[in-house]
Amino acid sequence: MFRDMNGDTGHPAERTEATEATEATEGTEPTGPTEPTDPLDLLAALFAGAGADQYLGEDVTQAQHMLQAAALAEAAGAPPALVAAALLHDVGHFQGPVSTEEFLRGTDNRHSHAGADRLAAWFGPEVTEPVRLHVAAKRYLCTVEPGYFGRLSAESVRTLEMQGGPMTQAQVRAYEAGPYARDGVTVRRWDEEAKDPGAEVPDFAHYRPLLTALLTTG
Ligand SMILES: [Fe+2]
Repeated sequence: MFRDMNGDTGHPAERTEATEATEATEGTEPTGPTEPTDPLDLLAALFAGAGADQYLGEDVTQAQHMLQAAALAEAAGAPPALVAAALLHDVGHFQGPVSTEEFLRGTDNRHSHAGADRLAAWFGPEVTEPVRLHVAAKRYLCTVEPGYFGRLSAESVRTLEMQGGPMTQAQVRAYEAGPYARDGVTVRRWDEEAKDPGAEVPDFAHYRPLLTALLTTG
């Protein structure tokens, strides 16, 4: 059973009680004695650790992919919150109730929601909501933009089906009504571009000042 089906547009208001209950348990697992407590140290450790794993089905690692997305955002002159969203958009892949093996067999890990919920401990909605919407934005663009589907990577096409497939017209209208709809699409476009195995981009440390200024935890 794929939990992202049944018309979920990614907006928090449409999440079911069952989803909330499931996700509420995700952040309660013991973190272990060696996990950093500073949020930026913790994120840096994720980039250096789990992020160094191969990005599922792509030619770059998770960390390279997210660093490339952030570099594209910076090059586009995006505001800091959107650079941060691009940098952190896939942190939900790093851990969760669905294993990598299950994901590859076709179980959606709802990584956009898991990542946004995790980041909400440290950042405001201008960072977390584009992260939450970047999967819904793929489904949205597949419906509204001719030619978009044809530009998806093979792996992105594969995951599209378990994420719910292209949006219906009603889902498109619901998506567009959300305050972060445009930002979700913007992050999605960098996401699609950020899979170049030869790209050389700044590392995580480059973004620490930008992230520090966005922290809500003071
Ligand atoms: Fe991504």
